[in-house]
Amino acid sequence: MVGLIDLVQTLTTPHPLDRYLELVRPTLTARDMRAEITHVDRSVPESVTLTLRPTRQWRGHAAGQYVQIGVVIDGVRHRRCYSPIDVAGRRDRQIQLTVKAHPNGLVSRYLHRTAAPGMVVDLTPAAGVFRLPDTRPDRVVLIGGGSGITPVLSMMRTLADEGYRGDLTFLYYAQAPELVPHRVQLTALAERFENFRVELRYPGHSARGSERLGRGAGEPSARLEGAARYFDYDELAHVAPWFADAQTFMCGPPGLMNAVRKVYEAEQLADRLHSEEFTLSVPPVDAGEAFGTVSFSGSGISTANDGAVLLEQAEAAGLTPEFGCRMGICFSCTAVRRTGCTRNVRTGETDSDPDQPIQLCVSAPVGDVDIDI
Ligand SMILES: Cc1cc2nc3c(=O)[nH]c(=O)nc-3n(C[C@H](O)[C@H](O)[C@H](O)COP(=O)(O)OP(=O)(O)OC[C@H]3O[C@@H](n4cnc5c(N)ncnc54)[C@H](O)[C@@H]3O)c2cc1C
Ligand code: FES
Repeated sequence: MVGLIDLVQTLTTPHPLDRYLELVRPTLTARDMRAEITHVDRSVPESVTLTLRPTRQWRGHAAGQYVQIGVVIDGVRHRRCYSPIDVAGRRDRQIQLTVKAHPNGLVSRYLHRTAAPGMVVDLTPAAGVFRLPDTRPDRVVLIGGGSGITPVLSMMRTLADEGYRGDLTFLYYAQAPELVPHRVQLTALAERFENFRVELRYPGHSARGSERLGRGAGEPSARLEGAARYFDYDELAHVAPWFADAQTFMCGPPGLMNAVRKVYEAEQLADRLHSEEFTLSVPPVDAGEAFGTVSFSGSGISTANDGAVLLEQAEAAGLTPEFGCRMGICFSCTAVRRTGCTRNVRTGETDSDPDQPIQLCVSAPVGDVDIDI
């Protein structure tokens, strides 16, 4: 089959075979994976949950991993990462994604506004190291905030599907009770499993600060009942007194993740904490590196180096390089650095070998560089 596809691919060059097949039916593909939206749920404000039926190439996901969705907006194809919320290995081979509409976000607002059954999107295989280990831990703490509920919800659902018998606490932060996605499913899991504890927090919300779902719903929830609290040691010790023996998985906004990290570092438990970030917290631009010229030689455009990562400098110069995660994990933005030195803003490492592929979203130029885009 692969040999036949290769042969037909050669005959259809310069266009890939899938460009012809999509004229027949968008989900009829030889190589590219796509997915058809089969259901859309907008019941939670500012968020949309899509049910997708992937084409035959889909191989499933591990709980916590992400996929990339590609959509064409105004003639330009854009890709973004989203974490399926389902049980890993869902038997009907469908996946669900919950997308929070960012106020200035291009793809999330587009999906929130226009997604409808029948719409076809590009889909990449699931990837990412943020996932439940194959040997399930004896105890698990899941911490989420905002749109970061998605990978940890997949983990909880997967463990529930397997009949997990260990202690599990799910601690989730939202701005208000009505902004909690999948409340019905969270409640059902908390009711069904006496070893699952589901705690919701609304720091900054004046009327109600905390809530416990399921069997323990009548019991005191937060350490200070009714108070609107941010994450701290006492909160963690209250909802998961055994947390030092657990593996903890978290995904949420930077403020929450930093607070959790501080507690685990202070307790010397950093190796038991696993995290996924949706956005990159970039250190401030180093003024000492913001000099010289950035040349995008593939387009004949040059700009004064302002020290920002190359993806941002390219966009500021009017270019539209492809990107997905904007944080160095998906490799969509990879381009060749012809000459010059760049610093990886995540690791701090610099590199000046010529003709090397680099990720534009996490690479800041140190002086003059030439990028082939
Ligand atoms: C592994 C992973 C999993 C994820 N899973 C989920 C999930 O399950 N659910 C979910 O809702 N989100 C998830 N995300 C986030 C998601 O991928 C998108 O980042 C999010 O939907 C915003 O995309 P957007 O196109 O709407 O916003 P964008 O248009 O990309 O804008 C987002 C922000 O990026 C900055 N930005 C964008 N364009 C530019 C530019 N030209 N110049 C400078 N700054 C710019 C701006 O600050 C803007 O507010 C995940 C991200 C990762 C990395
Ligand atoms: S956009 Fe994902 S690695 Fe750069």
